Amino acid sequence: MAEVVIVPTPADAGALVADEIVRLVQSRPDAVLGLATGSTPLPVYEALRPRLDGIDVSRVRGFALDEYVGIDPQHPESYRSVITREVVEPLGLDPRLIHTPNGALETIAHAGEDYEAAIAEAGGVDLQILGIGTSGHIGFNEPGSSFASRTRVKTLIEQTRVDNARFFDSIDDVPMHCITQGLGTILRARHLFLLAFGEAKAEAIAGAVEGPVTASLPGSAIQLHEHVTVVVDEAAASRLRHADYYRYTYAHKPAWQGL
Ligand code: PGA
Repeated sequence: MAEVVIVPTPADAGALVADEIVRLVQSRPDAVLGLATGSTPLPVYEALRPRLDGIDVSRVRGFALDEYVGIDPQHPESYRSVITREVVEPLGLDPRLIHTPNGALETIAHAGEDYEAAIAEAGGVDLQILGIGTSGHIGFNEPGSSFASRTRVKTLIEQTRVDNARFFDSIDDVPMHCITQGLGTILRARHLFLLAFGEAKAEAIAGAVEGPVTASLPGSAIQLHEHVTVVVDEAAASRLRHADYYRYTYAHKPAWQGL
């Protein structure tokens, strides 16, 4: 099962994941990072900034999980822009090595296949950062997504558009379609970090970690992966039945075990 680490604050979660990313980049300077957008991963990127000082990141590669379809890449809320603003620029990564799915309408018919080919060409993702939606989605794999799915176009459910309306002037401006790595794509990454903070994510986290493995809660796909670290604050952990066991396990974790 996933290792579940319950931390006091999102900043603690960010530090924990950032430390692991630094270890990875030090051992593998051309590491392939799986990047997520949204509010959840921000503490990771913030914690990374000082930690990467003095470390050569010129060869670090990255793949974002998803992108809106039909959005102008220059739009401030396109995930290309978000990744540039929140990850590439502050961390000093080479933008030519950081990829987002191509949401342009002209090439959308083969954009999924192209993205899969680029990930394969890079040798796969070493460490994937994931948030989870209140719908239970990871990436933009909404309920009902196949566990075998690869990068493709999906229709966002209304709840996701409501959740993401805060980034736009109004909900009408939130695109209806997205292109997202599939659950099958995500499951191929070598180490998954699923993060969640706040009470609004408690149900999705309980379902993903302890619920039945079901396409109705796409985050539950993590139970099929052999190396998953779930990092949550107390509020997001509040519906986990075995929270005490996770705390006990982490408190008694042998130093040699690693994350
Ligand atoms: P959030 O979104 O990090 O902005 O809460 C998570 C998600 O929708 O996957």
